Amino acid sequence: MGKLIELRCPKCACASPSKTEFRCRACNAVLEAVVAVDHLQPDDFTRMRQSRDQSIWRWFEFFPVASPSSIVSLGEGSTPLLHVQRLGEAIGVANLYLKNDTVLPTGSLKDRSNSVGMSVGKELGYATASVISTGNAAASVAAYAAAAGMNSVVMVPKGTAASKIIQAHAYGATVIVVDGRFDYEVAELYKNAVSEFGWYDCVSTNPYRVGKKSYAYELADQFDGATADWVIHPTAGGTGLVCMWQGFKEFLALGWLARAPKLVAAQSEAAAPLVAAMARGSSTFTPVDVRDTVAESIQVGNPSSLGNRALDALRESHGTAVALSDDEILAGQSLTARLAGIFAEPAAATSVAAAKQMRQRGLIGRDDVVVCNLTGHGLKQPEAVPFAEKEFIPIAPTLAALQEKLRNVGDSLP
Ligand SMILES: Cc1ncc(COP(=O)(O)O)c(C=O)c1O
Repeated sequence: MGKLIELRCPKCACASPSKTEFRCRACNAVLEAVVAVDHLQPDDFTRMRQSRDQSIWRWFEFFPVASPSSIVSLGEGSTPLLHVQRLGEAIGVANLYLKNDTVLPTGSLKDRSNSVGMSVGKELGYATASVISTGNAAASVAAYAAAAGMNSVVMVPKGTAASKIIQAHAYGATVIVVDGRFDYEVAELYKNAVSEFGWYDCVSTNPYRVGKKSYAYELADQFDGATADWVIHPTAGGTGLVCMWQGFKEFLALGWLARAPKLVAAQSEAAAPLVAAMARGSSTFTPVDVRDTVAESIQVGNPSSLGNRALDALRESHGTAVALSDDEILAGQSLTARLAGIFAEPAAATSVAAAKQMRQRGLIGRDDVVVCNLTGHGLKQPEAVPFAEKEFIPIAPTLAALQEKLRNVGDSLP
Protein backbone atom coordinates (compact mmCIF):
# COMPACT_ATOMS: atom_id res chain seq x y z
CA MET A 1 0.00 0.00 0.00
CA GLY A 2 1.36 3.45 -0.92
CA LYS A 3 1.77 6.20 1.61
CA LEU A 4 -1.29 8.37 2.23
CA ILE A 5 -0.23 12.00 1.88
CA GLU A 6 -2.52 15.01 1.56
CA LEU A 7 -2.43 18.75 1.98
CA ARG A 8 -5.12 19.72 4.46
CA CYS A 9 -6.32 23.04 5.88
CA PRO A 10 -5.82 23.14 9.67
CA LYS A 11 -8.74 25.61 9.95
CA CYS A 12 -11.44 24.26 7.60
CA ALA A 13 -10.13 20.66 7.74
CA CYS A 14 -10.73 20.35 3.98
CA ALA A 15 -8.26 18.47 1.78
CA SER A 16 -6.66 20.50 -0.99
CA PRO A 17 -7.31 19.31 -4.56
CA SER A 18 -3.84 20.57 -5.54
CA LYS A 19 -0.38 19.35 -4.53
CA THR A 20 1.32 22.61 -5.45
CA GLU A 21 -0.89 25.27 -3.83
CA PHE A 22 0.30 26.01 -0.31
CA ARG A 23 -2.67 27.99 0.99
CA CYS A 24 -6.31 26.97 1.50
CA ARG A 25 -8.54 28.16 -1.38
CA ALA A 26 -11.37 28.84 1.08
CA CYS A 27 -9.68 30.65 4.00
CA ASN A 28 -6.08 31.29 2.86
CA ALA A 29 -4.57 29.44 5.87
CA VAL A 30 -1.22 27.73 5.26
CA LEU A 31 -1.94 24.08 4.52
CA GLU A 32 -0.51 21.14 6.45
CA ALA A 33 1.04 18.07 4.84
CA VAL A 34 -0.67 15.17 6.56
CA VAL A 35 0.83 11.69 6.46
CA ALA A 36 -1.11 8.70 7.76
CA VAL A 37 1.00 6.98 10.43
CA ASP A 38 -1.60 5.33 12.66
CA HIS A 39 -0.80 1.88 11.23
CA LEU A 40 2.73 1.99 12.72
CA GLN A 41 3.54 -0.44 15.55
CA PRO A 42 6.09 -0.38 18.42
CA ASP A 43 8.25 -2.75 16.35
CA ASP A 44 8.48 -0.02 13.73
CA PHE A 45 10.00 2.31 16.32
CA THR A 46 12.60 -0.33 17.14
CA ARG A 47 13.33 -0.87 13.45
CA MET A 48 13.70 2.88 12.82
CA ARG A 49 15.99 3.30 15.83
CA GLN A 50 18.17 0.44 14.64
CA SER A 51 18.42 1.60 11.05
CA ARG A 52 21.91 1.92 9.61
CA ASP A 53 20.75 5.18 8.04
CA GLN A 54 21.51 7.77 10.70
CA SER A 55 19.95 10.68 8.80
CA ILE A 56 16.42 12.03 9.38
CA TRP A 57 15.33 9.50 6.77
CA ARG A 58 15.26 6.80 9.44
CA TRP A 59 11.84 8.33 10.05
CA PHE A 60 10.79 8.16 6.38
CA GLU A 61 7.22 7.05 7.22
CA PHE A 62 6.57 10.39 8.96
CA PHE A 63 7.53 12.60 6.02
CA PRO A 64 5.32 13.57 3.03
CA VAL A 65 7.58 11.94 0.47
CA ALA A 66 6.01 9.09 -1.50
CA SER A 67 9.07 7.19 -2.66
CA PRO A 68 12.50 6.60 -1.07
CA SER A 69 13.97 7.10 -4.54
CA SER A 70 13.08 10.82 -4.35
CA ILE A 71 15.05 11.44 -1.17
CA VAL A 72 17.52 14.32 -1.36
CA SER A 73 19.88 13.91 1.58
CA LEU A 74 23.24 15.24 2.65
CA GLY A 75 23.29 13.06 5.76
CA GLU A 76 21.38 15.56 7.95
CA GLY A 77 20.07 14.45 11.35
CA SER A 78 21.08 12.40 14.39
CA THR A 79 23.01 15.40 15.64
CA PRO A 80 24.73 14.94 19.02
CA LEU A 81 22.72 15.35 22.21
CA LEU A 82 25.38 16.35 24.71
CA HIS A 83 25.07 16.38 28.49
CA VAL A 84 27.13 19.49 29.19
CA GLN A 85 28.09 19.42 32.85
CA ARG A 86 30.44 22.42 33.02
CA LEU A 87 27.94 24.68 31.27
CA GLY A 88 25.12 23.21 33.36
CA GLU A 89 26.99 23.96 36.60
CA ALA A 90 27.61 27.54 35.47
CA ILE A 91 23.89 28.22 34.99
CA GLY A 92 22.63 25.98 37.79
CA VAL A 93 20.98 23.27 35.69
CA ALA A 94 22.37 19.83 36.48
CA ASN A 95 20.72 18.07 33.53
CA LEU A 96 21.50 20.47 30.72
CA TYR A 97 21.70 19.02 27.20
CA LEU A 98 22.69 20.67 23.93
CA LYS A 99 21.20 19.39 20.68
CA ASN A 100 24.09 20.33 18.43
CA ASP A 101 22.67 21.24 15.03
CA THR A 102 25.72 23.36 14.21
CA VAL A 103 27.13 20.16 12.67
CA LEU A 104 24.39 19.89 10.03
CA PRO A 105 25.62 19.92 6.39
CA THR A 106 25.26 23.65 5.71
CA GLY A 107 25.70 24.64 9.36
CA SER A 108 22.11 25.27 10.40
CA LEU A 109 18.79 23.65 11.28
CA LYS A 110 17.39 24.62 7.86
CA ASP A 111 18.84 21.40 6.46
CA ARG A 112 16.22 19.35 8.31
CA SER A 113 13.47 21.30 6.51
CA ASN A 114 15.07 21.49 3.10
CA SER A 115 16.01 17.84 2.84
CA VAL A 116 12.32 16.95 3.11
CA GLY A 117 11.10 19.97 1.13
CA MET A 118 13.52 19.40 -1.75
CA SER A 119 12.68 15.69 -1.90
CA VAL A 120 9.02 16.60 -2.48
CA GLY A 121 10.06 19.27 -5.00
CA LYS A 122 11.95 16.62 -6.94
CA GLU A 123 8.99 14.25 -6.71
CA LEU A 124 6.69 16.97 -8.07
CA GLY A 125 9.05 17.53 -11.02
CA TYR A 126 10.25 21.09 -10.36
CA ALA A 127 13.40 22.31 -12.12
CA THR A 128 14.16 25.39 -10.01
CA ALA A 129 13.89 25.99 -6.26
CA SER A 130 13.72 29.50 -4.86
CA VAL A 131 13.78 31.33 -1.57
CA ILE A 132 13.80 34.87 -0.24
CA SER A 133 16.29 35.06 2.61
CA THR A 134 19.54 36.67 3.59
CA GLY A 135 20.93 33.90 5.68
CA ASN A 136 20.74 30.26 6.61
CA ALA A 137 17.75 29.33 4.43
CA ALA A 138 19.47 30.63 1.29
CA ALA A 139 22.55 28.47 1.82
CA SER A 140 20.50 25.42 2.69
CA VAL A 141 18.09 25.67 -0.26
CA ALA A 142 21.05 26.18 -2.60
CA ALA A 143 22.88 23.12 -1.25
CA TYR A 144 19.87 20.79 -1.42
CA ALA A 145 18.92 22.05 -4.90
CA ALA A 146 22.49 21.29 -6.01
CA ALA A 147 22.24 17.78 -4.56
CA ALA A 148 18.85 17.28 -6.25
CA GLY A 149 20.13 18.44 -9.63
CA MET A 150 17.84 21.46 -9.54
CA ASN A 151 18.63 25.13 -10.13
CA SER A 152 18.19 27.59 -7.30
CA VAL A 153 17.38 31.30 -7.13
CA VAL A 154 17.95 33.33 -3.98
CA MET A 155 16.47 36.83 -3.70
CA VAL A 156 17.97 39.36 -1.28
CA PRO A 157 17.68 43.11 -0.71
CA LYS A 158 20.37 45.56 -1.79
CA GLY A 159 22.85 46.09 1.04
CA THR A 160 22.94 42.45 2.15
CA ALA A 161 26.50 41.65 3.22
CA ALA A 162 28.35 39.37 0.81
CA SER A 163 29.24 37.06 3.72
CA LYS A 164 25.54 36.28 4.09
CA ILE A 165 25.04 35.07 0.53
CA ILE A 166 28.45 33.79 -0.49
CA GLN A 167 27.68 30.27 0.77
CA ALA A 168 24.55 30.10 -1.42
CA HIS A 169 26.53 31.42 -4.39
CA ALA A 170 29.19 28.76 -3.78
CA TYR A 171 26.54 26.02 -4.10
CA GLY A 172 25.60 27.48 -7.49
CA ALA A 173 22.56 29.56 -6.61
CA THR A 174 21.63 32.51 -8.80
CA VAL A 175 21.65 35.39 -6.35
CA ILE A 176 19.32 38.26 -7.30
CA VAL A 177 19.98 41.49 -5.41
CA VAL A 178 16.97 43.80 -5.46
CA ASP A 179 16.92 47.53 -4.82
CA GLY A 180 14.15 47.53 -2.21
CA ARG A 181 13.15 46.65 1.37
CA PHE A 182 13.05 42.98 2.40
CA ASP A 183 9.47 42.80 3.71
CA TYR A 184 8.01 45.09 1.06
CA GLU A 185 9.36 45.52 -2.49
CA VAL A 186 11.62 42.46 -2.41
CA ALA A 187 8.88 40.23 -0.98
CA GLU A 188 6.41 41.54 -3.58
CA LEU A 189 8.79 40.90 -6.48
CA TYR A 190 9.60 37.45 -5.09
CA LYS A 191 5.91 36.51 -4.88
CA ASN A 192 5.31 37.68 -8.45
CA ALA A 193 8.41 35.89 -9.71
CA VAL A 194 7.33 32.58 -8.16
CA SER A 195 3.99 32.74 -9.94
CA GLU A 196 5.50 34.02 -13.20
CA PHE A 197 8.31 31.47 -13.45
CA GLY A 198 6.76 28.54 -11.60
CA TRP A 199 9.67 28.09 -9.19
CA TYR A 200 9.44 25.66 -6.29
CA ASP A 201 8.90 28.04 -3.38
CA CYS A 202 10.96 27.04 -0.32
CA VAL A 203 9.78 29.66 2.16
CA SER A 204 7.99 28.84 5.40
CA THR A 205 4.55 28.57 3.77
CA ASN A 206 5.75 25.44 1.95
CA PRO A 207 3.89 22.73 3.90
CA TYR A 208 6.28 19.99 2.83
CA ARG A 209 9.21 21.43 4.80
CA VAL A 210 8.37 19.40 7.92
CA GLY A 211 11.83 17.98 8.52
CA LYS A 212 12.06 19.66 11.92
CA LYS A 213 9.61 17.02 13.21
CA SER A 214 12.79 14.96 13.40
CA TYR A 215 13.84 16.88 16.54
CA ALA A 216 11.04 15.09 18.39
CA TYR A 217 11.90 11.67 16.96
CA GLU A 218 15.62 12.05 17.63
CA LEU A 219 15.06 13.21 21.21
CA ALA A 220 12.75 10.25 21.87
CA ASP A 221 15.48 7.98 20.52
CA GLN A 222 18.39 9.67 22.28
CA PHE A 223 16.61 9.77 25.66
CA ASP A 224 15.69 6.12 25.14
CA GLY A 225 11.93 6.69 25.28
CA ALA A 226 12.14 9.12 28.23
CA THR A 227 11.27 12.80 27.89
CA ALA A 228 13.05 16.05 28.70
CA ASP A 229 11.16 18.51 30.88
CA TRP A 230 11.93 21.45 28.59
CA VAL A 231 13.05 21.90 24.97
CA ILE A 232 14.15 25.45 24.21
CA HIS A 233 14.17 26.49 20.56
CA PRO A 234 15.50 29.76 19.05
CA THR A 235 12.41 31.00 17.28
CA ALA A 236 11.74 33.17 14.23
CA GLY A 237 9.06 31.96 11.80
CA GLY A 238 7.84 29.22 14.15
CA THR A 239 8.55 26.20 11.93
CA GLY A 240 10.66 24.53 14.62
CA LEU A 241 8.01 24.77 17.34
CA VAL A 242 5.14 23.74 15.08
CA CYS A 243 6.97 20.77 13.59
CA MET A 244 8.51 19.60 16.87
CA TRP A 245 5.12 19.67 18.55
CA GLN A 246 3.58 17.76 15.65
CA GLY A 247 6.34 15.15 15.98
CA PHE A 248 5.82 14.76 19.73
CA LYS A 249 2.04 14.45 19.24
CA GLU A 250 2.55 11.72 16.65
CA PHE A 251 4.76 9.73 19.04
CA LEU A 252 2.29 10.24 21.92
CA ALA A 253 -0.60 9.02 19.75
CA LEU A 254 1.39 5.95 18.75
CA GLY A 255 2.27 5.24 22.40
CA TRP A 256 5.98 5.60 21.59
CA LEU A 257 6.33 8.32 24.25
CA ALA A 258 4.49 8.64 27.56
CA ARG A 259 4.68 12.42 27.79
CA ALA A 260 5.90 15.43 25.83
CA PRO A 261 8.27 18.17 26.97
CA LYS A 262 7.27 21.76 27.55
CA LEU A 263 8.39 23.82 24.55
CA VAL A 264 10.00 27.23 24.92
CA ALA A 265 10.44 29.92 22.26
CA ALA A 266 13.68 31.86 22.73
CA GLN A 267 13.52 35.20 20.91
CA SER A 268 15.67 38.30 20.76
CA GLU A 269 13.88 41.11 22.62
CA ALA A 270 14.36 43.14 19.41
CA ALA A 271 12.01 40.77 17.56
CA ALA A 272 9.75 39.02 20.04
CA PRO A 273 6.15 38.90 18.77
CA LEU A 274 5.52 35.48 20.33
CA VAL A 275 6.84 36.56 23.73
CA ALA A 276 4.47 39.54 23.63
CA ALA A 277 1.49 37.35 22.67
CA MET A 278 2.23 34.85 25.45
CA ALA A 279 2.54 37.69 27.97
CA ARG A 280 -0.88 39.02 26.85
CA GLY A 281 -2.35 35.54 27.05
CA SER A 282 -3.37 35.91 23.43
CA SER A 283 -3.67 33.10 20.91
CA THR A 284 -2.74 35.44 18.04
CA PHE A 285 0.42 37.48 17.70
CA THR A 286 0.67 41.10 16.61
CA PRO A 287 3.48 41.92 14.16
CA VAL A 288 6.24 44.08 15.66
CA ASP A 289 8.74 46.45 14.04
CA VAL A 290 12.08 44.76 14.59
CA ARG A 291 15.15 46.52 15.93
CA ASP A 292 18.75 45.60 15.22
CA THR A 293 19.95 42.58 17.15
CA VAL A 294 23.01 40.40 17.22
CA ALA A 295 20.65 37.43 16.71
CA GLU A 296 20.29 38.27 13.02
CA SER A 297 19.01 34.87 11.91
CA ILE A 298 15.88 35.12 14.05
CA GLN A 299 15.12 38.81 13.48
CA VAL A 300 11.52 38.24 12.36
CA GLY A 301 8.76 40.56 13.54
CA ASN A 302 5.90 39.12 11.50
CA PRO A 303 5.90 35.30 11.47
CA SER A 304 2.79 35.41 9.30
CA SER A 305 2.65 31.80 8.11
CA LEU A 306 3.10 29.84 11.31
CA GLY A 307 3.26 32.31 14.21
CA ASN A 308 -0.19 31.50 15.58
CA ARG A 309 0.35 27.77 15.26
CA ALA A 310 3.64 28.20 17.14
CA LEU A 311 1.66 29.86 19.94
CA ASP A 312 -0.69 26.86 19.97
CA ALA A 313 2.33 24.57 20.35
CA LEU A 314 3.66 26.61 23.28
CA ARG A 315 0.27 26.56 25.02
CA GLU A 316 -0.61 22.94 24.36
CA SER A 317 2.79 21.83 25.66
CA HIS A 318 2.45 24.11 28.76
CA GLY A 319 5.58 25.93 27.66
CA THR A 320 6.48 29.58 27.47
CA ALA A 321 8.37 32.22 25.49
CA VAL A 322 11.39 34.18 26.65
CA ALA A 323 12.96 37.42 25.36
CA LEU A 324 16.72 37.93 25.53
CA SER A 325 18.82 41.08 25.30
CA ASP A 326 21.89 41.15 23.06
CA ASP A 327 24.09 41.07 26.18
CA GLU A 328 22.37 37.92 27.42
CA ILE A 329 22.67 36.33 23.97
CA LEU A 330 26.39 37.10 23.64
CA ALA A 331 26.99 35.81 27.17
CA GLY A 332 25.15 32.61 26.21
CA GLN A 333 27.27 32.28 23.07
CA SER A 334 30.49 32.77 25.04
CA LEU A 335 29.52 30.30 27.81
CA THR A 336 28.56 27.68 25.21
CA ALA A 337 31.88 28.04 23.42
CA ARG A 338 34.09 28.20 26.49
CA LEU A 339 32.37 25.67 28.74
CA ALA A 340 30.93 23.22 26.23
CA GLY A 341 33.29 23.63 23.27
CA ILE A 342 30.58 24.51 20.76
CA PHE A 343 30.70 27.68 18.68
CA ALA A 344 27.11 28.62 17.93
CA GLU A 345 25.90 31.73 16.13
CA PRO A 346 24.19 34.29 18.40
CA ALA A 347 20.67 33.39 17.23
CA ALA A 348 21.36 29.77 18.18
CA ALA A 349 22.78 30.70 21.58
CA THR A 350 19.46 32.33 22.54
CA SER A 351 18.41 28.87 23.73
CA VAL A 352 21.25 28.71 26.25
CA ALA A 353 20.66 32.33 27.27
CA ALA A 354 16.98 31.44 27.81
CA ALA A 355 17.85 28.43 29.98
CA LYS A 356 20.06 30.68 32.12
CA GLN A 357 17.38 33.36 32.45
CA MET A 358 14.62 30.84 33.19
CA ARG A 359 16.74 29.25 35.91
CA GLN A 360 17.40 32.67 37.45
CA ARG A 361 13.67 33.43 37.38
CA GLY A 362 12.92 30.08 39.03
CA LEU A 363 10.95 28.78 36.03
CA ILE A 364 13.38 25.89 35.57
CA GLY A 365 14.25 23.73 38.58
CA ARG A 366 17.82 22.66 39.38
CA ASP A 367 17.16 19.03 38.46
CA ASP A 368 14.93 19.59 35.45
CA VAL A 369 16.07 17.97 32.22
CA VAL A 370 16.59 20.83 29.77
CA VAL A 371 17.45 20.60 26.06
CA CYS A 372 18.74 23.68 24.23
CA ASN A 373 18.62 23.44 20.45
CA LEU A 374 21.80 24.97 19.03
CA THR A 375 20.53 25.80 15.59
CA GLY A 376 23.38 27.44 13.67
CA HIS A 377 27.18 27.48 13.54
CA GLY A 378 29.18 30.39 14.93
CA LEU A 379 31.14 30.66 11.69
CA LYS A 380 27.94 31.89 10.01
CA GLN A 381 28.46 35.21 11.78
CA PRO A 382 31.98 35.28 13.26
CA GLU A 383 32.06 39.08 13.44
CA ALA A 384 29.53 38.91 16.29
CA VAL A 385 32.19 37.70 18.74
CA PRO A 386 33.46 40.72 20.67
CA PHE A 387 37.24 41.09 20.83
CA ALA A 388 39.76 43.87 21.25
CA GLU A 389 42.07 44.53 18.27
CA LYS A 390 45.00 44.55 20.67
CA GLU A 391 44.46 40.86 21.45
CA PHE A 392 45.76 40.03 17.98
CA ILE A 393 48.67 42.43 17.72
CA PRO A 394 51.68 40.29 16.74
CA ILE A 395 54.38 39.82 19.36
CA ALA A 396 58.10 39.57 18.71
CA PRO A 397 59.19 35.94 18.17
CA THR A 398 60.95 35.73 21.54
CA LEU A 399 60.21 33.90 24.79
CA ALA A 400 60.42 37.16 26.69
CA ALA A 401 57.69 38.72 24.55
CA LEU A 402 55.57 35.59 24.93
CA GLN A 403 55.99 35.66 28.73
CA GLU A 404 54.95 39.29 28.77
CA LYS A 405 51.90 38.51 26.62
CA LEU A 406 50.84 35.57 28.81
CA ARG A 407 51.16 37.71 31.95
CA ASN A 408 48.65 40.12 30.44
CA VAL A 409 46.13 37.47 29.47
CA GLY A 410 43.73 37.05 32.35
CA ASP A 411 40.87 34.69 32.76
CA SER A 412 38.52 36.32 30.26
CA LEU A 413 35.42 34.26 31.01
CA PRO A 414 32.37 36.51 31.24
C1 LIG B 1 20.03 29.84 13.42
C2 LIG B 1 18.54 29.80 13.42
N1 LIG B 1 17.91 29.38 14.52
C3 LIG B 1 16.58 29.32 14.60
C4 LIG B 1 15.79 29.68 13.52
C5 LIG B 1 14.33 29.60 13.79
O1 LIG B 1 13.50 29.27 12.82
P1 LIG B 1 12.04 28.67 13.14
O2 LIG B 1 11.38 29.51 14.17
O3 LIG B 1 11.36 28.78 11.83
O4 LIG B 1 12.24 27.26 13.57
C6 LIG B 1 16.39 30.13 12.34
C7 LIG B 1 15.64 30.54 11.16
O5 LIG B 1 15.02 31.46 10.95
C8 LIG B 1 17.81 30.18 12.28
O6 LIG B 1 18.45 30.58 11.17
